[in-house]
Amino acid sequence: MNLAGKRILLIISGGIAAYKSLDLIRRLRERGASARCVMTRAAHEFVTPLAVGALTADHVFSDLFDRQAEHDVGHIRLSREADLIVIAPASADLLGKMANGLADDLASAVLLATDKKVLAAPAMNPRMWQHPATRRNLETLRKDGIAFVGPARGEMAETGEAGEGRMAEPLEIVAAIERIFDDTPRPLAGKTIVVTSGPTHEPIDPVRYIANRSSGKQGHAIAAALAALGADVRLVSGPVAIPDPAGVTTVRVETAREMRDAVLDLLPVDAGIFVAAVADWRTENSADEKIKKVAGNGPPSLQMVENPDILATVGHHDQRPRLVIGFAAETADLEKNATSKLERKGADMIVANDVSHDSGVGPGGVMGGDRNRVRIVSKAGIDEWPEMTKGEVAARLADLVAARLAGDPA
Ligand SMILES: Cc1cc2nc3c(=O)[nH]c(=O)nc-3n(C[C@H](O)[C@H](O)[C@H](O)COP(=O)(O)O)c2cc1C
Repeated sequence: MNLAGKRILLIISGGIAAYKSLDLIRRLRERGASARCVMTRAAHEFVTPLAVGALTADHVFSDLFDRQAEHDVGHIRLSREADLIVIAPASADLLGKMANGLADDLASAVLLATDKKVLAAPAMNPRMWQHPATRRNLETLRKDGIAFVGPARGEMAETGEAGEGRMAEPLEIVAAIERIFDDTPRPLAGKTIVVTSGPTHEPIDPVRYIANRSSGKQGHAIAAALAALGADVRLVSGPVAIPDPAGVTTVRVETAREMRDAVLDLLPVDAGIFVAAVADWRTENSADEKIKKVAGNGPPSLQMVENPDILATVGHHDQRPRLVIGFAAETADLEKNATSKLERKGADMIVANDVSHDSGVGPGGVMGGDRNRVRIVSKAGIDEWPEMTKGEVAARLADLVAARLAGDPA
C-alpha cells in the first residue's frame, strides 16, 4: 500500500533500537508519507536530532517548554497535524508513563493530549518486557486502544542477551502502519489464531539432529494470509530459513516438546492451524557431548520415543479452540489417512497434501517447493482444490477460516 500524503508523528524514546528508527523514517518517506519526529531526552543519547532532522527534512521536537514551538501550544499542534502517531522504539518507561497518564515531557504530553490512533513498537531487555509492571501497563494500554507491533524474540543489541523484547524491524512497522490505514474489510479482526509451521529438530547430540524437509513456506503463508484478514496471529515456527511474516507475532522453537509448550502457552485462541511437520519421534536421551566415532565400535544405536502429538493435545484440550485444523502430509492412502486423523485428533478439518515424489506438484515437490495441491477433509466431506501456489492455498484457507468462525458450516 502506498502511504502517499500520510502524516506520521514518530516518537523516538530512549532505547538502543532508536538507530532502527532512522531506517523507519526512510522507509516511510519512500512510500510517500511524511515523518515528523518527537525525541525524548533519553533518545538523544542513542541517535542525534541532527540525523533525525536530516532524514525527516523537518524540525525535530524535544522540549515541552520550547518557547518557539509552544507559543501556539505545540504539543497539541503536533497531534493535530498528524494522521497517526508511531512510537518506535517505545521504552518501558514511556509505556509506563502512558499507562498512568503522565505528561512531564513533550513525548508523553503529546500522547496524553492526542485523539489520534497510536501504534507502539516496544523495545527493551527481555526481563523488562516480562516484568509484571510492564505486563500491567501493556494490558492497560491495549484497553485504551493503543496498537502494538512486536516485539520479536531474538538476540538483543547488548551482548549475551536474548529473548523477547527486540523491536520489530522497520518494514514490519511499516506493514503495521499500512494495515492501520487500509480500510478493506477484515473478517478476522478481533480473532486470535495460533499457527504452527516448519519442521522440528530433535537432537541426537549437540551437533546432530533428526529433521524433515518442511520449509515452513505453507505455514508462514497461512499465518500471513490470516493476518491480512485482520487476525491476531501467533506463529510458532520450527527452524526455517525464511523470514518471519510481517504483521504476525512469531515464536521460534526447535523441538516438538518446545512447540507443544509454546502452543499451550498461547491458549485460549479462537482457532489453531497446525501446519508444522512435527517429528513423530525423538531419541530417548540426546547425548550432552558429541558422540565420537570410535574405530571398531560401529554406529551407535538410537532408541526412539514418541513425541507429543500437538494437534491431538489441542483437539482434546479443555481450552480447545472453536476451530482446529490439522495438516496431513501423506505419501499413500491420502484420504483414508486424513479421515481417520480427523476423528483421532479431535480436529474439525484436515488439509491433506500428497508429499510423495510422484505427486506431480512441482518443481521442488510439495515439501520445500512453492506449489501445493490439497484436499480439505471435514465431516461435510472431501473438497479437492486444484494445484496452486502456497500463497493461494493460504488465501483460500484463510477465507475458509473466516467463514467458519463467522458461523458458516461450509
Ligand atoms: C545503554 C542503554 C540502553 C537502554 N536500552 C533501553 C531499551 O532498549 N528499552 C528501554 O525501555 N529502556 C532502555 N534503557 C533505559 C532508558 O533509556 C531509560 O529508562 C530512560 O529513562 C527512558 O526514557 P524515555 O522513556 O523518556 O525515552 C537503556 C538505557 C541505557 C543506558
